[in-house]
Amino acid sequence: MANQNTSTIIVTGGAGYIGSHTIIELLQQTDYTIVSIDNFSNSNTDTFDRIEAITGKRVKNLNVDICNLETLELAIASVKNPIGVIHFAAFKSVPQSVAEPLLYYQNNLGSLINILKICQKHHISNFIFSSSCSVYGNVEKLPVTEQTPFSVAESPYAQTKQMGEDIVSNYTKSAPSFKSVLLRYFNPVGAHTSGLNGEYPRGKPDNLVPYITQTAAGILQKLTVFGNDYDTRDGSCIRDYIHVSDIADAHVKAMNYLIDNKQSKQTSVFNLGTGNGVSVLEAVHSFEKVSQQKLNYEIGPRRAGDVINIYANNDFAKKELNWIPKYNLDEMMLSAWKWQLHLQEEK
Ligand code: UD1
Repeated sequence: MANQNTSTIIVTGGAGYIGSHTIIELLQQTDYTIVSIDNFSNSNTDTFDRIEAITGKRVKNLNVDICNLETLELAIASVKNPIGVIHFAAFKSVPQSVAEPLLYYQNNLGSLINILKICQKHHISNFIFSSSCSVYGNVEKLPVTEQTPFSVAESPYAQTKQMGEDIVSNYTKSAPSFKSVLLRYFNPVGAHTSGLNGEYPRGKPDNLVPYITQTAAGILQKLTVFGNDYDTRDGSCIRDYIHVSDIADAHVKAMNYLIDNKQSKQTSVFNLGTGNGVSVLEAVHSFEKVSQQKLNYEIGPRRAGDVINIYANNDFAKKELNWIPKYNLDEMMLSAWKWQLHLQEEK
């Protein structure tokens, strides 16, 4: 059992969407010191002000590129008693990964290898990797369990997650005192219920929910629904949307699980989804209902790299981590809208 008052958890990508929500939960639910590593390549420096506004605590951030091992080593030397790493930092756009695969392999795999080298050197033995349901590809049988075999990755992004899982598992096998958790996120959406922190994409968003809220706010002209001719109930793709604070809460539970040695295997894998499949059009209609905004959208062609239908069996995470996702789709959409309105007010 670690002494929370004297130990540090390192969060890479701490200024990012899931990273920042996880830091909030860690600060609120534990006494660990949290140190973030983020070079703001796809995030904003004021995220740490937002975290402070919510928690009353200031988090130290090391502004270095994790792909550069030399500067990473120098920065890590200042961290006192690191006992765990949660590795979020990665690029995450499916379409961008199709257009720029080398960037994705280099960034997502290079940073992972470097952070594992840091764990090895500093004897950090508790590691959580941000994986994704995209590792499953297009599957035959739904919902997917952690045992569902991987199909061909539909995008280079998805492939970096498949390869990333292998890298973590193989490293874990080689290091007797090292333990790891692979968290397969389904589609994290929504924002902190305070309305003070949320997704802050640089430039035009690729993900559905920020695209919806920015369209409703008049920043973007129109949402395109990518395809309505799939073999699904309304023809649009089906996903398992899950509130980002539920995802964040699972990280706190997973880190405690590792530190308290609750796991039966050196590497444990968990699906993080609600278990509900929701179509793109259903998501749009939920948004329209809770925001009372009519959304300007049209049906367009399919998007390259899209999986057709995927949702989780989350029984293992519920049982092993004692984790229960709290928020439903309407609450996810409402929190995302509240955050968008907050951003508008700030301007
Ligand atoms: C994918 C991964 C997910 C990962 C995320 C990171 C899969 C199944 N999921 O999410 O694990 O966390 O990347 O970015 O691979 N859509 C539109 N119009 C838009 C934007 C999106 O119709 O303008 C549709 C997409 O076609 C898709 C759904 O909305 O059906 C969700 O898309 P998006 O938010 O981009 O996430 P995924 O690609 O599903």
